[in-house]
Amino acid sequence: MIKLSKRLLQVASYIPDNCHLVDIGCDHAYLDIYLYQNRKNIHIIASDINEKALSSAKTNIAKFKLTEKIETRVGSGLENIEEGEIDTITMSGLGSHTIVGILYNNRSKLKNVNQIVIQSNTSLEFLRSKVTKLGYYIQDEKLVKEGKIFYTIINFQKGRKRYSKKELYFGPILLKENSKLFNEKNQEDLTKLEILMKIIPKNHYHLRLKTHFKIKTLKKLLKN
Ligand SMILES: C[S@@+](CC[C@H](N)C(=O)[O-])C[C@H]1O[C@@H](n2cnc3c(N)ncnc32)[C@H](O)[C@@H]1O
Repeated sequence: MIKLSKRLLQVASYIPDNCHLVDIGCDHAYLDIYLYQNRKNIHIIASDINEKALSSAKTNIAKFKLTEKIETRVGSGLENIEEGEIDTITMSGLGSHTIVGILYNNRSKLKNVNQIVIQSNTSLEFLRSKVTKLGYYIQDEKLVKEGKIFYTIINFQKGRKRYSKKELYFGPILLKENSKLFNEKNQEDLTKLEILMKIIPKNHYHLRLKTHFKIKTLKKLLKN
């Protein structure tokens, strides 16, 4: 049995039995090997834009004697996926702008996609806003910490829900749960933003205003 990091275990926890999955940016394919070993009747395509990464995926898949079970494909995003071929997508360790670009450039391929599981550490407000506009809602989301790094993992399911600006920024479920880890992350974000505020030049009015607003919101949240 393969062992996964906390972060990838959380991603895996959202992937059900009986699904047709593509793991975009699979790299080592640890997630895919784990899923094949732990899910019933799962079809997996492990895909990566980088030939070298895919070759490491193939080596690991072969090590676990799963070459006949997990398909590997090289290519960017969903370009190597046929319409109707998958119902579940996962993308972890990619930037939000790349993820959103992949989804928006391939909207016709999302017709049968009921679930998108994402772990990204950049621009989460942008990510939540863009993915929910595509007709997915946030079914669940979790924060995990490995070493000194916080990771957010979001499970989007087909359906519509409206979110406030604050919910898109912090995550509607993370906000509601208001966990100790969530507070720790917000405290850390606040410290970083306060340092940033001190070095943003006075004439960068728009950035100063945005940062000021974030600091104010974080302070208010941390008081409650
Ligand atoms: C940081 S690694 C993450 C690996 C793994 N998913 C994880 O979470 O541990 C990002 C991977 O995404 C791949 N990648 C980046 N842009 C991509 C794209 N547009 N389409 C497919 N793969 C991409 C990279 O080649 C790299 O292997």
